[in-house]
Amino acid sequence: MNRHLISAADLSRDDALLILDTAEELAQLAERPIRKLPTLRGRTVVNLFYEDSTRTRISFEAAAKRLSADVINFSAKGSSVAKGESLKDTALTLEAMGADAVVIRHQASGAPHRLAGWVRGSVVNAGDGTHEHPTQALLDAFTMRRRLGRVDGLRVAIVGDVLHSRVARSNVLLLRTLGADVTLVAPPTLLPVAVSAWPCDVSYDLSAVLPKTDVVMMLRVQAERMNAAYFPTVREYSRRYGLDAARMAMLPDHSIVMHPGPMNRGVEIAAEVADSARSTIVEQVANGVSVRMAVLYLLLGGADLGGADLGGAGLGNAGTGARQADAGKADAGEADAGRTDAGRTDAGREGAGWLSNEAAEVAR
Ligand code: MLT
Repeated sequence: MNRHLISAADLSRDDALLILDTAEELAQLAERPIRKLPTLRGRTVVNLFYEDSTRTRISFEAAAKRLSADVINFSAKGSSVAKGESLKDTALTLEAMGADAVVIRHQASGAPHRLAGWVRGSVVNAGDGTHEHPTQALLDAFTMRRRLGRVDGLRVAIVGDVLHSRVARSNVLLLRTLGADVTLVAPPTLLPVAVSAWPCDVSYDLSAVLPKTDVVMMLRVQAERMNAAYFPTVREYSRRYGLDAARMAMLPDHSIVMHPGPMNRGVEIAAEVADSARSTIVEQVANGVSVRMAVLYLLLGGADLGGADLGGAGLGNAGTGARQADAGKADAGEADAGRTDAGRTDAGREGAGWLSNEAAEVAR
């Protein structure tokens, strides 16, 4: 796996499956009384958010904290950015503070890529402009796999404001890598010019696509990025591209409805659909924490989980204490499993009892 996660295209099929499998194991933590592992103790994760976010920032923060990393939250508002400090100077300041990973959200497409050239730690793209949001695509794939048992061969419709959506681009790339068939459904004005080069089909007719769909992913109409009239009226948009109960009834019985949030209820999705049993919207939020834990764990080459299998008996209250004690005992033979670049802290390298050697190799 690469040192950074900037695009879903950075992930091979094996990388993506490793993240999903790791997230699956880490998801078991949420069911335990103590939801914390010592794996990234001594590591520092900086959340660098230049753009508003509720769920993604909180999700990364929860993920890092559950792995015992130190978390520094930086929001552009109220910082020296407001005084004109450049991204590079901010990055170098964070570097001086010893950031092992920087999770960045930025309004400019390409900002995480630039950042990766300036810092020694790992860079994780938490959404850049209209470009990409790879951890959203990973959590979406994770949710599909949990609900439907697989991603390979699924027929996925991504509907709405594709033009301004980093979620759509990351999903098309990742879902293709994982073997799903994606159809984008949108008015022509809300599709990128180069969409014909994307590895997916395109349709302008939602009602025709729904009966052949396992997963329908509704996208938010991103009014804040619209500098022109992309459709006549909101009402007209909802009538043609919104998912209401009548349209949802066109889906096969097993199909699910997804939305990355935040939602415009009554615009792209009706409240009764968002709150229906087919909707995975709340699960997506919960799954986001597990997936982001897996990403941080694998990028930072985290330590083992104390030799205890997450599915094993040792994970109750007492188990966690035992693991924390264990985590201090470096195992000379296996200690390299978590080693990353020179210059990064070694605090997390204490053996690799949990991931297989092969997985630890990939994590390196
Ligand atoms: C994003 O940050 O891209 C969101 O998760 C989706 C949206 O803003 O509509």
